[in-house]
Amino acid sequence: MKVTSVFRPDLFAGKAAIVTGGGTGIGKAITYELLYLGCNVMIASRKLERLEEAAKDMRKWLSETGRKNRLEFMVCNIRKVESVQELVSTSLKTFGRLDFLVNNGGGQFISPSADISLKGFTAVVETNLTGTFLMSKEVFTQWMRDHGGSIVNITMDMWKGYPMMSHSGAARAGVDNLTKSLALEWISNGVRVNSVAPGSSIYSETAAANYGSADIFEAVRLQVPAQRLGTVEEVSTVVCFLLSPSASFVSGVAVPVDAAHSLYMQPSFRVPEHQNMPEYTWEKDLAEQQRSTLGSASKG
Ligand code: ADE
Repeated sequence: MKVTSVFRPDLFAGKAAIVTGGGTGIGKAITYELLYLGCNVMIASRKLERLEEAAKDMRKWLSETGRKNRLEFMVCNIRKVESVQELVSTSLKTFGRLDFLVNNGGGQFISPSADISLKGFTAVVETNLTGTFLMSKEVFTQWMRDHGGSIVNITMDMWKGYPMMSHSGAARAGVDNLTKSLALEWISNGVRVNSVAPGSSIYSETAAANYGSADIFEAVRLQVPAQRLGTVEEVSTVVCFLLSPSASFVSGVAVPVDAAHSLYMQPSFRVPEHQNMPEYTWEKDLAEQQRSTLGSASKG
C-alpha cells in the first residue's frame, strides 16, 4: 500500500480526528493521509464489517511503516443523536482531544424525483444534512467550543441542481449553507468550518460499485476539461490543507475539486423532447412582438 502526501509527515502529530464514512472511497483516502501525517483517527460508519476490513488494512500499514499513531473504529448511525453523542465521547476518551472532524459519511440512490418516496427522501436528507449537523454540533459542544478545531464537510457538485438525485443535491446544498452558518457562529471559538465538493469525475471503486459499473466514469472522462478522471487522493489533499494551519485564515468556503468541470459541463441529464412549455400569454402584444422578432432573426 503506497500512501503519501505533499505535506510534511509530522504535520498532524499528536492531533486527533473523526472521519465519518472513513472506511471506504474518499473517506478512506482522507483517513490514510491523516494517518500518514501523524494524526490519530477514529473512523465511523454504520457497517461493522467495512470498518473492520478497513481497520485491518490501515493498522497493518501503520505497523509496517513503524508509525505510533492510532486508528480506531466505531459503529455509528449519524442520523441518531445518542449514537453521535457516544461516538464523540468515546473518541474523546480514546484520544483525549479532538482537533478535526471530517463529515464524509453519506449516501444516495439514483431516481427520478417523482419516484422518490417520503421515506427515501427523508433518509437521504437525514444522512447527508442532519448527520452533518448532529456530528458538528456534538463535536463543538463536547470539545471544540472550548478548544477550537477545524471541520470539513464533504459535499458534491450540485451547483446547478442534481436531476435524478434531487434528494442528495438538496441535502448537500443544505450542507453548503450550514457550513457558512457554522463558520460564522463558531469563529469566535477558534473553529473553522469549510466544505469540499468532489466532482463526478472523481473515480472511486466504492462509487463505481454503488452505481453498479465503472462505465459511467468512462463517459465522464471523455467529457471533462481535464480529460482524465480525478483521484480520491486529489480530494484528500484538499481536505488536509483545509484542516491544516496553512488554511488558518480560511473559513466558510466550499472548494470544488473537479478541475473546472462544474464551470464547463452541461449536466449529464438530458431534457426529453417536448412541447409542454406554456406559451407566453399574459401580455399578448409582447408575445407577438417576440415571436416576430425571433422569426425575422432566424430568417435573416
Ligand atoms: N453512511 C451512510 N449512512 C450512514 C449513517 N446513517 N451513519 C453513518 N454512516 C453512514
